[in-house]
Formats: sequence, structure tokens, C-alpha cells
Amino acid sequence: MSTVLLLPAAGSGTRLAAGAPKAFVHLAGRPLLAHAVEGAVRSGVIDAIVIAAPSSLLEDARRIAETAAEAPVGSPVGLDGPVDPDGPVDSVRPGDPDVPGAPARPAPVPITVVEGGADRVVSVAAALAAVPQADLVLVHDAARCLTPASVYHRVVAALKAGASAVVPVLPMTDTVKTTTDAGTVVGDLDRTALRRVQTPQGFVREALIAAHGLQRTDPDRSATDDAGLVERLDIAVVGVPGDEAALKITHPIDLRVAELYVSDGHD
Ligand code: C5P
Repeated sequence: MSTVLLLPAAGSGTRLAAGAPKAFVHLAGRPLLAHAVEGAVRSGVIDAIVIAAPSSLLEDARRIAETAAEAPVGSPVGLDGPVDPDGPVDSVRPGDPDVPGAPARPAPVPITVVEGGADRVVSVAAALAAVPQADLVLVHDAARCLTPASVYHRVVAALKAGASAVVPVLPMTDTVKTTTDAGTVVGDLDRTALRRVQTPQGFVREALIAAHGLQRTDPDRSATDDAGLVERLDIAVVGVPGDEAALKITHPIDLRVAELYVSDGHD
């Protein structure tokens, strides 16, 4: 089964206020986009990546992503990119010609870059239109650039087990209430039934195409993720465990937290 990752990376990053579109802001010396591509490639379950980038940064996105995709899978990666191939390594490097029996180095994952749109749904639709063929499509956020391989694995495993749509989820830690516009509390939601939803969200390709087709003909601005669009088709969406390291970098504090994850080896 072939699996393509769509990586919307065309957001402006207004809330991050870091002087560049969000996916191009640096974390530990490299753009979020580089971390995101490298994480996807390292998961070993992605056959191709389609990135939706700001129109003025298409070539930059391609260069950043292709460099990141060439990082050898399974070898050590430092904060500023792949460890010097001539330096000391503590594990067998795939494709190492000097090590008999070293596993073959996988071919780089092909990268396509398309122009993103005015909102995330439009960016995802543009990337989806560039997918030539695939059985499974994962939709990720470049902003969740530290997502561990285990999350990719759980999403793809659930799809291969027969689900049509899969989302990584985490429990709520806060109490959640509904309020009026003026802020008066009108009710409590049952926290045990609520989940925070992350990406990558995985879909059988036809389900995602149908969902975006419906969105085009019958726009519903209340859907803030791709699973929300698929739910409108009455397709069951399955939850699998997410990971706190897959946080979405939105505000400056998120970048600080992500830096802590990187310094703890989560990259
Ligand atoms: O803005 P937000 O954090 O919800 O964006 C989530 C992801 O969607 C980010 O990776 C961002 O770059 C992407 N996005 C996009 N096109 C837009 C808006 C957001 O690709 N117009």
C-alpha cells in the first residue's frame, strides 16, 4: 500500500510573530519544515510528500524539504542536521559500504511542492490535487514538526487494519465549559468523553477526496481539520493515541517547549 503525506506549510505564522511564515521559522537551528519532513521520512512509512507552501517560498520549501529528506533513515541526527558521515557513529548506518551486511539505504522520499491557499483547507486541497496515486493519504501540519515515528505508525497501522479515517488523540487535562459570548458559563462538558486531536490524520484516499469535494460544493467553515470534513460523509473516524511531543507550534511559548523537546532528544 502506498502512503503519501500532505504537509500544509502555507500558514502566515501571525500568532507566532517570529518574522517569517511559520513553517520557515527556525527551531534548534533549522526550519520547522525541515524537522517535519525529516520526522516523516524517519518514520519509514511515507512513500512521498506533497508540501503546500506560500507562493513566494516555493523554491525555498523544495530546497529545505529535499535536504531534510536526504537524511539517512536510522542514523543519528544532530540538532543542526545529519551527523558528519565521517564522524563516529554508534549504530550501523544504512548503506554503509564499509560494513558488510549493512541494510540498503532507502531511496530519498520524493517531494512535490504546490502553492498553498488562503486557509488550511484550501492548502490541503491543493496538495491533495497533486497526489498522482496512493492508497493512503496522511494529512499533517508542518507546525507539529516533532511528531514521533510511533504516532505515524499507529495511524498507518489502523488504516491498514481497515479504518477509513484515523486521528491521533490525547485526553483533556483541563475542565471544559461552554459560555455565552459575554463569557457567562452555561454548561459543563464531560471531560472524560473529550479528546484533543493531533496530526497526522490518516485517510483512505477516496474518503479524503470525497470529503474535500463536498467541502467545495457545500462549504462548512466549522470543520477545522480534515477528519471534520470526512465526518460529514458519515465515515467513522478512529482515534489512536497521540503524543505530547506532537504539539502544534502556534504561540512563542510553544517554540520554547519544542526547543526543550529537541534538547531532550525528541527529534
Ligand atoms: O494556523 P494553524 O496553526 O492552524 O496551521 C496549521 C498548519 O496549516 C500549519 O502547518 C500551517 O502552515 C498550515 N496552513 C496552510 N495554509 C494556510 C494556513 C495554515 O498550509 N492558509
